[in-house]
Amino acid sequence: MKKEATRSVPVNNNLRKQFLHHVAQTSPSPMLVEVERAEGSFFYTPEGRRYYDLVAGVSVSNVGHANPDVVRAVQEQAAHYMHVMVYGELVEKPQVGYATRLVELLPESLECVYFVNSGAEAIEGALKLAKRYTHRTGILSMRRAYHGSTHAAMALMGTPEGEEWKNAFRPLLPDFEAIEFNDFAQLERITNRTACVVIEPVQGEAGVRTPATGYLQALRKRCDETGALLIFDEIQTGFGRTGELFAMQKYGVTPDIVCLAKALGGGMPLGAFIARHEIMDTLQTNPTLGHITTFGGHPVCCAAGLAALNYLLDHRVVEQVERKGALYEELLRDHPAVREIRRSGLLLAVELGESDKLYRIMELFKEVGILSDWFLYCDTAFRISPPLTITDDEVRDSARLIRTCLDRL
Ligand SMILES: Cc1ncc(COP(=O)(O)O)c(C=O)c1O
Repeated sequence: MKKEATRSVPVNNNLRKQFLHHVAQTSPSPMLVEVERAEGSFFYTPEGRRYYDLVAGVSVSNVGHANPDVVRAVQEQAAHYMHVMVYGELVEKPQVGYATRLVELLPESLECVYFVNSGAEAIEGALKLAKRYTHRTGILSMRRAYHGSTHAAMALMGTPEGEEWKNAFRPLLPDFEAIEFNDFAQLERITNRTACVVIEPVQGEAGVRTPATGYLQALRKRCDETGALLIFDEIQTGFGRTGELFAMQKYGVTPDIVCLAKALGGGMPLGAFIARHEIMDTLQTNPTLGHITTFGGHPVCCAAGLAALNYLLDHRVVEQVERKGALYEELLRDHPAVREIRRSGLLLAVELGESDKLYRIMELFKEVGILSDWFLYCDTAFRISPPLTITDDEVRDSARLIRTCLDRL
């Protein structure tokens, strides 16, 4: 990712100046577009400009911005009670209700939910749980994986692709190793020393890479043979993004632990790791309080998440995801500037083949009112991952705008 090279920073009003001075920056060249409000598939600036949101907060806003059901749930719960006591002590209806609904929708063995605050914390919790349950320390991940930005999550980034981020922060955690996604032969590196294997069933930040036929099944089998736990990171793929409510259902493979975040909170910050009781209960003793968190499962976030999940189900949003994704593909794939489209549901990587073209199209997108982004490990393709509630007309109109930008490359 070469963000520094691409975006100019015109500082022309006080709010932008304060943003640059007082809000910590993650790159030297932020977009600097001010958001006034967001609704459905769009957000708007104070100058009255409208942007198609084709990032959806990185697969967060699956039910659309300012979804009325989610807004109502937040308002009602906030007026009722917000934070009361650290996670796991008091019985709070929004948490219990959401956990119960989630496990009803997941395979039977995923029966117990540990709520946390973010994706990286869900990964942290899942890794600790795997070590605790198996009494092993070896952890395997996939090359070009992204699981978050904490020390443990960064240690899961493979080598050499992850070195750009990992190197500056060494030493990271020991006993981590990465294998090649979709390489059946490398599954042999899972052994009876391996505590767990962590995988995104569809790799997001690698630039949308889908599993080869039978790969996840072979991985499941190898984990069963060796006693390693299989952890699915469905933080980006969950809640309908790939065309099923969860990607594990699309591929018919059940992990021992699943990590969720992003769309889990319906736009509010929320993460979770979910497992069967036999595994999860090991965090309770020796030591007691094996993983603790103040705000995990915040009642307002759980109320928002449950409202969003119910919206997805009640409005049959997930059933339409594959059709809308295919429509984008059909509308864009014949453009001469497009080398390839990699896609799972409404998660698309449109490959241009050259980073210079990618940086240029980002500028053009800004001009025509499109928010897109590239991928951590792939700066030659742009992302299309809009709210799943995007209408067919909006798909057609945004694809038309994208084509006008592709024409100008
Ligand atoms: C697959 C995946 N896992 C984990 C994370 C980390 O989530 P968070 O940013 O909430 O820590 C991300 C974030 O982009 C992700 O895409």
